[in-house]
Amino acid sequence: MRKPIRKAVFPVAGLGTRFLPATKAIPKEMLPVIDRPLIQYAVDEAREAGIEQMIFVTGRGKTALIDHFDMAFELETTMRDRAKDMEALEPTRLRPGNLATVRQQVPLGLGHAIWCARGIVGEEPFAILLPDELMIGSPGCMKQMVAAYEEVGGNLISVLEVPREEVSSYGVITPGARDGALTEVKGLVEKPKAEDAPSNLIVSGRYILQPEVMRTLEGQEKGAGGEIQLTDAMARMIGSQPFHAVTFAGKRYDCGSKAGFVEATLAIALERDDLRDEVRKIARRLLGD
Ligand code: UTP
Repeated sequence: MRKPIRKAVFPVAGLGTRFLPATKAIPKEMLPVIDRPLIQYAVDEAREAGIEQMIFVTGRGKTALIDHFDMAFELETTMRDRAKDMEALEPTRLRPGNLATVRQQVPLGLGHAIWCARGIVGEEPFAILLPDELMIGSPGCMKQMVAAYEEVGGNLISVLEVPREEVSSYGVITPGARDGALTEVKGLVEKPKAEDAPSNLIVSGRYILQPEVMRTLEGQEKGAGGEIQLTDAMARMIGSQPFHAVTFAGKRYDCGSKAGFVEATLAIALERDDLRDEVRKIARRLLGD
């Protein structure tokens, strides 16, 4: 029997400099795609995968993320008094005790953010979801990964194919044997030059890792961009534990970049029954068709 995946870590301590000044006083992960902040999409995806315990790695100025999943007493009382529909608030309700937070203090990199959650993660496999990568699929990305984990165990990362000239912004895998959506991971490198990249399969922001990664991260040196990289720690675990990539059947939007954010907003609006027709008309008009 494999240990079930019960906990998910959401690193949300980054500075979000690409979205300044919008992210000066509000966290990047609170930026909404239509009517839900990015963090809500990620938490919903984790819940759909059967994960109960959410762990936010936060920093200063990130309180709105925690308030979002708390009770809003005045709002709720006023809405109730005015007999307003409260359904929109439903996804923001977590079971009491199911949100834990830890502070990263200084944003030293994704690897360091994950390591900050070691005490709450403990000795069990856990998921990681980067909220600025919006994954839309049915079933969701994490649910697909949990299904793969139940099959092969060990460590899993979600990957997708991109044009080779784009790989240098991402973690890239050296692929081994492939079996359907599962690919063996033989190596990992963070932000390689396009000509040195071992493949065009990039790591997208979903992971299932064994707790040993915390010890691998302990005392790890800075890597690409002067940050403590999760990719470097995972690379060191290859060989000692099973490591697979799951090719996500669905869409991924890079909401850490402005164009990706606009793409996500448009794509999701065009998928939604309440917005599709109106947004299609607007898009046509703007494009002059
Ligand atoms: P990014 O690389 O997108 O960095 O982090 P960022 O700081 O959020 O944004 P920019 O580049 O300045 O615009 C990917 C994810 O990892 C988290 C971020 O919050 C984001 O969800 N992160 C990154 C941390 O929690 N701590 C870090 O030290 C770095």
